[in-house]
Amino acid sequence: MKKQLEKIESLAREEVLSCEDIKMLDSLRVKYLGKKGEVTAILKQMGRLSAEERPIMGQLANKVRGDIESTISNKLKDLKQAEQDKAIRNETIDITLPGNAKQIGKLHPLTIVANEIKEIFIGMGYNIADGPEVEYDYYNFEALNLPPDHPARDTQDTFYITDNILLRTQTSSVQVHVMENQKPPIRVISPGRVYRSDAVDATHSPLFNQIEGLVIDKGITMADLKGTLEMLMKRLYGDDCKIRLRPHHFPFTEPSAEVDVMCFNCHGEGCRVCKNEGYIELLGAGMVHPKVLEGCGIDSEVYSGFAFGLGLERIAMRRYNINDMRLLYENDLRFLEQF
Ligand code: DAH
Repeated sequence: MKKQLEKIESLAREEVLSCEDIKMLDSLRVKYLGKKGEVTAILKQMGRLSAEERPIMGQLANKVRGDIESTISNKLKDLKQAEQDKAIRNETIDITLPGNAKQIGKLHPLTIVANEIKEIFIGMGYNIADGPEVEYDYYNFEALNLPPDHPARDTQDTFYITDNILLRTQTSSVQVHVMENQKPPIRVISPGRVYRSDAVDATHSPLFNQIEGLVIDKGITMADLKGTLEMLMKRLYGDDCKIRLRPHHFPFTEPSAEVDVMCFNCHGEGCRVCKNEGYIELLGAGMVHPKVLEGCGIDSEVYSGFAFGLGLERIAMRRYNINDMRLLYENDLRFLEQF
């Protein structure tokens, strides 16, 4: 029996130590230590031994059992550890591999310039006003002193939804909404999209962006208009930037002016960019026509004001030296990534 036990022990040790799998280890446990296992079978034969032999064999059998148990549990620990090591090894990240770079979006040049202009005016105490792009004829034309048969409508042909509803051709329409809804003093700018039935070329697009400005208060004069625009242009184009007002006609302002800015390229000397003028036309402006004020319920004997409308594309093109307007709309990343 002693020999049998010793044989079982050495066999068990050999099998357990060479076992490479937790499941298999479990079946070895059953094989040796289970109810029908080999050590158990030996213990069952104890009854046949003499009274002297029994405790000696019992002790030996228990020792063998204990040894096999601890060999198995040590092996189990090793196998579990190996399994965990393997999992960790498979999960490790190779930090030398190139990463997947995230593409980060950028602001569109028109948005950059619009934000900058908004900042400048907010700094001067203006509010931002918003108005509809689908507009009544009344707000886009009539209330701005452009009755149905006015010839100036021809230069702003647009897209009509009905006879009476159209896509606005100018942000000047927002002036009327603001004056109808607010009492002076008024200081607003209104950026937004406008539409005209123009063919696409390097300087035209059926959709473009304007920023309207409107100031109404007691005692507002043309000097306020000029000072405001001068400030705007210096902030946009640098302190040495000069502006020039030329008489012009807009039905909704009187007097009206076109505002030119000193050529950024030649600083007023005259060059190819400004067609030898030294100045470049940038926006329209003027003193709000009394008829427009009265139509919005503002007493033109008490209040006066100025308005201006600038083309955002034009400002951005001057700013970034962009020579074709279409670049601003084509969403070519090679272009957009430069800003
Ligand atoms: N709305 C005019 C246009 O689109 C620009 C303009 C001129 C706006 C004079 C004004 C203004 O507010 O006073 O051509």
